[in-house]
Amino acid sequence: MTVRACVLAGVGAWLPPDLVTNADLADRLDTSDDWIRRRTGIRQRHVASIGVAASDLAVKAGSRALRSAEVSQVDAVVLTTSTPDRPLPATAPVVAARLGLGTVPAFDVSAVCSGFLYGLFVASGIVAAGNVDRVLLVATEVYSSIVDPLDRSTAVIFGDGAAAVVLRAGTAGEHGALGPIMLGADGESGDLIQIPAGGSRQRTPKAPGDGYFQMAGNEVFRHAVLRMSEVSRQALAAAGWQSADVERLVAHQANARIIGALGDELGLSPDRVLSNIETAGNTGSASIPLLLAQAAADGRLTTGQRVLLTAFGGGLAWGAATLTWPGVVALHPSEHPE
Ligand code: ACO
Repeated sequence: MTVRACVLAGVGAWLPPDLVTNADLADRLDTSDDWIRRRTGIRQRHVASIGVAASDLAVKAGSRALRSAEVSQVDAVVLTTSTPDRPLPATAPVVAARLGLGTVPAFDVSAVCSGFLYGLFVASGIVAAGNVDRVLLVATEVYSSIVDPLDRSTAVIFGDGAAAVVLRAGTAGEHGALGPIMLGADGESGDLIQIPAGGSRQRTPKAPGDGYFQMAGNEVFRHAVLRMSEVSRQALAAAGWQSADVERLVAHQANARIIGALGDELGLSPDRVLSNIETAGNTGSASIPLLLAQAAADGRLTTGQRVLLTAFGGGLAWGAATLTWPGVVALHPSEHPE
């Protein structure tokens, strides 16, 4: 008997061309290239120009993913972001329309930096249930629109970017088939990562900075390593894999030290741990598919490799999933031939 599964059939990503280097930040903030590299592993990040919105990046990434999957139509669009174009409506319908996808269902999923795994859970669920045969899942972030440019503890970390995957109905066992997706959330600690104002709880800022992204970095660091290693083990167990089976770890790119500690926790040698944080920074929910696209483009991911995905972020929310790499073709996210 063949078991219906959700299969990754295409990947695409896009990074805006403008760069902010550590030297640029050190010119206007009390920080240094040395501190940023040592504490985060980041050397530069891409930023969208003023007026460029999450949907603009999403359309670029989405169109690359559709090309990678060699399709022009999908049955639904799921979009993840912490920086929607507007508080309402959702950004997904705008992206679907601009990609020429007609009037298919299109909606946003909100889970901060774990958005891609939550989006994968939803999108693969509707595929596996037989509701749809093909979904475009886009993760897009313009963190430069919510980060306080004068807050050195966050301004040095985030970058802008978008990435997308096409998911299709297939069978368990074929390359690209997703294993069980494990998720968790802890709202008790939700204040550790937040924008306090602008929602229904606090409509306007009461203190300077209330309208900006805030993070208790040091505390979050400890939660991140613990939660991602726990949920990774759950996803491995659910897939029937051992740590030794993992050929590529693609973790949310929040901090090179977190990624290194996670690799050590899971017993993975550094050559199995992929990263692009040095050149892209933390791109929120886009970071996992962005790294997938980049690694597919530069040959660090090859057909049949066993891949573990894991993320952690605001919510708090976390997740992990497994797949075997399908060998799809992708452009490098910072290549702009069009
Ligand atoms: N340059 C120089 N010094 C700095 C900077 C900076 N850019 N930022 C902070 N410092 C200082 C602090 O003021 C502090 O100084 P003090 O000792 O005099 O008080 C010192 O450096 C140490 O500060 P910490 O916050 O303890 O620095 P840490 O090593 O923890 O690094 C960082 C901060 C990079 C934020 C780290 O904690 C981190 O990566 N946290 C986790 C991020 C994460 O995983 N987030 C979840 C996903 S993101 C999301 O969901 C949107």
